[in-house]
This record gives sequence, structure tokens and C-alpha cells, in this order.
Amino acid sequence: MSIHKEMKQSLNINSFIKMKENNDIITCLTAYDYTSAKILDNAGIDLILIGDSLGMVMNGYNSTIPVTIDEIIYHTKAVKRAVMHAFVVADMPFGSYHIDEKSAVKNAVRLVKETEVPAVKLEGGKEIAPLIEKLVNTGIGVLGHIGLKPQMVNTMGGYKIFGKDGAESLIEDAKTLENAGAFAVVLEGVSSQSAVQITNSINIPTIGIGAGSGCSGQILVYHDIFGIFTDFKPKFVKRYANVADIIDKAAKEYINDVKAGTFPDDAHSFK
Ligand code: KIV
Repeated sequence: MSIHKEMKQSLNINSFIKMKENNDIITCLTAYDYTSAKILDNAGIDLILIGDSLGMVMNGYNSTIPVTIDEIIYHTKAVKRAVMHAFVVADMPFGSYHIDEKSAVKNAVRLVKETEVPAVKLEGGKEIAPLIEKLVNTGIGVLGHIGLKPQMVNTMGGYKIFGKDGAESLIEDAKTLENAGAFAVVLEGVSSQSAVQITNSINIPTIGIGAGSGCSGQILVYHDIFGIFTDFKPKFVKRYANVADIIDKAAKEYINDVKAGTFPDDAHSFK
């Protein structure tokens, strides 16, 4: 058992507001399976998101658009089995909350009932505030997500940075989400200056990804930060390890050993 596991209390939505008040920066990462989530939880991460980024890094889709609620549920169940302390949030994928309020609530309820996550994440600003209010009143925690919304890639005309010409409309979105009951809001692809202004305009924490160091917390994708996904690397990603290189080297050693007949040896065989 790690020191973190012995000392850390389970987190809930109120923990994050307190962390912001205490200037305790919130650490978040995505995870999509039992083993990875267990490593992050033992390391002491505050929040684990089963993001729809799984579509790209786990399934090889070109965007997050094809991800289904069944895929999110499958991966969230695996993560939930591992996590003892971190706060776990599951993404609502494209199409699962866009048709009408009734089906959106039904999908969120299904996600929470089948996986036992305390909260879901939805992309959008003021236009989804009534839905967020409805979900919160239903008993579902909501993490907002504004700025670059990858589920809107087709109508955005590609991935862009937001807030370069001022933070007004993002601040309005963030305040509306706070009033609707969101416990925190992800700022993706937002200029550092605007991210600071947004963070200072609301009481709930901001969680940045490509939004500079002035947010209340940071999030990155598991496969990006550890150098497992190598198809491309966005500017905001810092690689803390090059796991793909380690696996490549180890896989080649295994292939050579098996071809040479040196594996399995006596130490790895039963007499
Ligand atoms: O899908 C995802 O992983 C995300 C985060 C990186 C914020 O939305």
C-alpha cells in the first residue's frame, strides 16, 4: 500500500471547491482500464476521467465522435473496480445528450446506475445549462467543459485555441455552468490569459488542458503524458515517460528470445 493510499481520503464534489479555496492545485488524468487506474490512484491523483478521448487512444478513431455510451460504460466499470480514493468522472459521448433533455437524462442516469460514478462530464456552455441543472437536481454531479469542444470538431472546422480575443463569452459560459450547479469546469485550448480571468470570475475550480498554469487544476490524457500514444503530440502535452519506446525494446527482446529458443528457460518452466 502506498503512502498516498494510506493517507488520502476519498474525494467528493465539495473537496474540489475547498481545494480551490486553499490554492491546492487539483491533479487529474484520464484512464480507461483497471490497471492504469490503479496505478494513478496509488500515485495519489485527485480525479480520474474516463474521457471520450478513449475513442482515439484506445480504439484508433480519428475523433471522439464515434464513441458510444456503451463504450464509456465498459471502460468506466473497469476503472471503478480499481479506484479507492480518486474522484471518478465519466464523459457523456457525442449524441448521448444532444437529442432532447429526456434522452440526455436517461443516458446520464444509465451511466451513473451501471458504473456508480458520482459525476459525468458534458461539453458545452450556456446552451446546455438547463440540462446541467436538471442532471444536478436528479442527483448527478456535473463537470462542465468549455473552450475547445472536441465533439464539435465538424462545425468548428478543426481544433482551435479559444479566448485569444478576450474572455467575455467564456466567462459568461463558466458563470452559467456554475449557476447551473457544475462542480468544476474543464477549460480546453484556452489562452493562458483568458484562463486566469475565467478562473478568477467563478468560485468553482477550472481544470485546464492546453489552458496554461493559471487554472485551479490540470488534466492530460494518460496515453499522451506517458508517451504511449505517439501518432501526434499536441503542444500542451508534456511527456513524463516514453512508454512506447520501453515496450518496443522489450517486445523485440521477447521476439528474439523466443526465436532463439532462450525463452522459456528452466526458471520460467514447470518440472
Ligand atoms: O476526453 C477527454 O479525455 C477529455 C479531457 C482530456 C478533458 O475531455
